[in-house]
Amino acid sequence: MSEGLAPAYYFLDAARAGASLPRGFLEQARAAGDVTGARADFPALHQQVNGRPLVWFDNAATTHKPRPVLDAMTRFYERDYSNVHRGAHTLAARATDAYEGARAAVAQLLGASSAEEIVFVRGTTEGINLLAATLGRSLVGPGDEIVLSTLEHHANIVPWQMLAQSVGARLRPVPVDESGQVQLDAYAALLSDRTRIVALSHVSNALGTVLPIEPMIAMARARGIRVVVDGAQAVAHLPVDVRALGADFYVFSGHKIFGPTGIGAIYGRRDVLATLPPWQGGGSMIRDVTFEHTTYSEPPARFEAGTPSIGDAVGLGAAIRYVMGLGMPAIAAREDRLGHLLMAELSDIPSVRLIGTAAHRVAVASFVVEGRRTEDVGRALDGCGIAVRSGHHCAQPALRRFGVETSVRASLAFYNTEEEVHTFGASLRRIVRGR
Ligand code: ALA
Repeated sequence: MSEGLAPAYYFLDAARAGASLPRGFLEQARAAGDVTGARADFPALHQQVNGRPLVWFDNAATTHKPRPVLDAMTRFYERDYSNVHRGAHTLAARATDAYEGARAAVAQLLGASSAEEIVFVRGTTEGINLLAATLGRSLVGPGDEIVLSTLEHHANIVPWQMLAQSVGARLRPVPVDESGQVQLDAYAALLSDRTRIVALSHVSNALGTVLPIEPMIAMARARGIRVVVDGAQAVAHLPVDVRALGADFYVFSGHKIFGPTGIGAIYGRRDVLATLPPWQGGGSMIRDVTFEHTTYSEPPARFEAGTPSIGDAVGLGAAIRYVMGLGMPAIAAREDRLGHLLMAELSDIPSVRLIGTAAHRVAVASFVVEGRRTEDVGRALDGCGIAVRSGHHCAQPALRRFGVETSVRASLAFYNTEEEVHTFGASLRRIVRGR
């Protein structure tokens, strides 16, 4: 591995760096059982693509689903399906129990104080749009500022930008250093009396950087600034404890944590959530309606107008029970090993330039190959059965910081194997040599 590129990984280095992880986390990670066997639970991973065994290295885009998630959804639709929160019949009661059980599972995964702090949405994008339209509209006015990082996904830029443009506020991005880590001193300098909201990724989707969100949240909250965390790329890879983090809001998508598409959640701290106005109007979010006036339900119902995505919530609940059954420490420890191996393979290929080498990272590698278009590299890897993403990863400002418009991204999950990482390295070497 070349000097300066030696990556370290959040899970194991956090203790050295003084970042705070849940008590006993590292001990648990070391004692954790092997999760490799769980790969057998994922039917989609066991197929050939282009004549080769599929290597799914596109987990930052989406993850595959384990049998317990597929079974839970089938069972729900075959046996318990009904609308929720209405209807005086047995299936309505079963469906409501399943839906609310999923909410409780989300609360448990995130360490929320109660299931009432969890709002179901379609995914991270919808969650952040909801917050921009409610929290944002309540707090942000002319001349105000919203601080975010250069690493944000477009989903954590555009909704805030639309809000800022409509009220005469502006976005202030925190710069990142050459490794792709945010500069804390620059962040501190950007916080001011004009800052109303801080919106941060927990983990960068394009680079894999784990942001130091704990001190960043503490610095914002010390000034009374509300903090929204985009956890889309974190929840499947890191233990998350929203109370320890101190975030006001934490948002994620189900499909990136082995659940279905079309479902995600917002954690909102109870006292803050209670102050937000409703977003969409309709059934289920009201207490009383007349033609003159409507009164609204308490959260979370206030933010869940209309029939929710019940079957998808049930699938998400099953996915969360599945990862919690394996144990996030075991998942994190496995990904740490895979991540080191991945960076070692890439650092060994002279014409590969890594984009993002921050010390604290998940098992994601973003890179370009000298003289090759990223889409050609992606297509050539697909020819070897290896699925990666090539493009701007919906994070154009992050890639432009490094002087590139696109990169190839390999993003791993716990169900990937050492053998797959070696296959990827060998295939890329052949592609680079033009054979
Ligand atoms: N946000 C997803 C990604 O990073 C789609 O690939």
